[in-house]
Amino acid sequence: MMTTDRCEAQLAQWLQSAFEAAFGNDVPAVRVQAATDSRFGDFQCNDAMPLAKALKRPPRAIAEAVVAALPLPPMLDKIDIAGPGFINLTVNAGWLAEQAAALSAAPRFGIPDAGRGKTVVIDYSSPNVAKPMHIGHIRSTVIGNAIDRLYRALGYTVIADNHLGDWGTQFGILIQGYRTFLTGDERDALTIESLERVYVQSYNRTKEDESWLAACKAELVKLQQGDPENRAIWQRFIDISLAEFNRVYARLGVGFDLWRGESFYNGTLPETIRLLQDKGLAAESDGALVVNLEADGMPVCIVRKSDGGFNYAATDIATVRNRVAEFAPDRIIYVTDERQQLHFRQFFAVCAKLGHTTHLEHVWFGLMRLPEGTFSTRQGNVIKLEALLDEAVRRALDIIKASDNGMTDAEQQRLAEDIGIGAIKYADLSHDPQTLIVFTWEKALALEGNSGPYLQYAYARISSLLRKYAERVPGRDPLANALTLDGPIEKDLALRLLQFPAAVQRAADAYKPNVLADYLFGLSQAYSSFYQQSPVLKSEPALRDSRIRLCAMVAQALREGLTLLGIATPEKI
Ligand code: ARG
Repeated sequence: MMTTDRCEAQLAQWLQSAFEAAFGNDVPAVRVQAATDSRFGDFQCNDAMPLAKALKRPPRAIAEAVVAALPLPPMLDKIDIAGPGFINLTVNAGWLAEQAAALSAAPRFGIPDAGRGKTVVIDYSSPNVAKPMHIGHIRSTVIGNAIDRLYRALGYTVIADNHLGDWGTQFGILIQGYRTFLTGDERDALTIESLERVYVQSYNRTKEDESWLAACKAELVKLQQGDPENRAIWQRFIDISLAEFNRVYARLGVGFDLWRGESFYNGTLPETIRLLQDKGLAAESDGALVVNLEADGMPVCIVRKSDGGFNYAATDIATVRNRVAEFAPDRIIYVTDERQQLHFRQFFAVCAKLGHTTHLEHVWFGLMRLPEGTFSTRQGNVIKLEALLDEAVRRALDIIKASDNGMTDAEQQRLAEDIGIGAIKYADLSHDPQTLIVFTWEKALALEGNSGPYLQYAYARISSLLRKYAERVPGRDPLANALTLDGPIEKDLALRLLQFPAAVQRAADAYKPNVLADYLFGLSQAYSSFYQQSPVLKSEPALRDSRIRLCAMVAQALREGLTLLGIATPEKI
């Protein structure tokens, strides 16, 4: 991974020359990192320890020789050696101010262009047609979209693909149910809810009625063979579902480059299966066609069922082939819940056997629970995603109305949408995806603590300060003011600002938006302590102007960071 922190890179470069001055040119590359304990300095280098063996000297002596080798450069105030040989660096405030200022002037607060020339496909959200999106889908949509934004910001060419579940046996069950259970009027006014009801009713009947099951299969075969009537019904199911999904995506601020559902690959399934057979990878087993993955420590991957139908794995293998041929991506990233891990490991292994070298990554996440239990479409307590969003907005509106903010009803409504939806997204994104989240309204909407509203509020407070500054000092851009870092709190804030690009890079590399969320929360807390102790507008002009610049920079990083998480940054709360 490339170093994204310019500060660390410059310090490492100087330290490298000090190591070389002491021990000659063949010392390996030295690294500098943020100090683990700020009492000892701002940055540290731990490389004296691993070098002890090669240089046949105690690490502490190595550190001492390095420190003595060169005069202190202007960027450093001091160097200390601690413990067995840690080299602690305390940077000069003026130099630090310059570094922070450079970041603030750089596009996107210095996010590196690490992905230039590289393409990633991100397959996320991907709900199944004819079922309302329930809150289980929120994680794939919200986490996937944050990863999408992170990779775009890093300069990757991103293809966001919504791989809709729009093909498969459920459509036989649905069409048969639709023909039987719905009146003409109900068919005319078809909704996704009625489709879901029809599905459950028809599915249950397949369990107790053989002839019903046969009828469902017959409808499916007709659909697969292109029967115009069944095709038209199927298309309607899709249109109705998409209208609903799009409403949710619009509210969530989520968009896709491609909407290629499973059906898109249907025509290429036979050829994909033939390829597996030709390469000797697939074999018949109890009437099904399977790829043996014993050597990979996994159960067989079924690619064609015993009834001749293709399945989820076959579609995913065909999808990889298509994406590789069309986009030549460096990576394909899939975002789904943890229950699909085996499926992904299996078909990734099959793709490797087919010779695909594209990096395939399954980003899985744990389920989201309400305290009463897991959300699932099979249980009665399904909460529709839209209902959850409505509830969030309603609760946010109550909080907004309780404060005396002088906003119009429309402004309050708009703000409630930003805060309510931001709260839901942040409740998800602030956790490591691979943990189970117990969602509570109290925590999601808290104005204190690690919540979306807290960060939005921090941003809005700075915006309000900037407005007041503009009234007092009209026509002046705070970002053009001279910046002097006055005391340890301001230095700490500047050091944190410098970590922004690295936080973005780490979040993207690890597929963990929570790394960025944690960073933003830490930044807001540092800002809060600064603000509590350091008057801005009431300070004498030079200090005031420098402090407001620091505030404006924190606002820049917060806005950039929250935007990467897909969270709105209203200027006024
Ligand atoms: N439609 C699936 C579901 O709702 C998710 C699809 C994920 N993407 C994929 N290429 N398999 O569980």
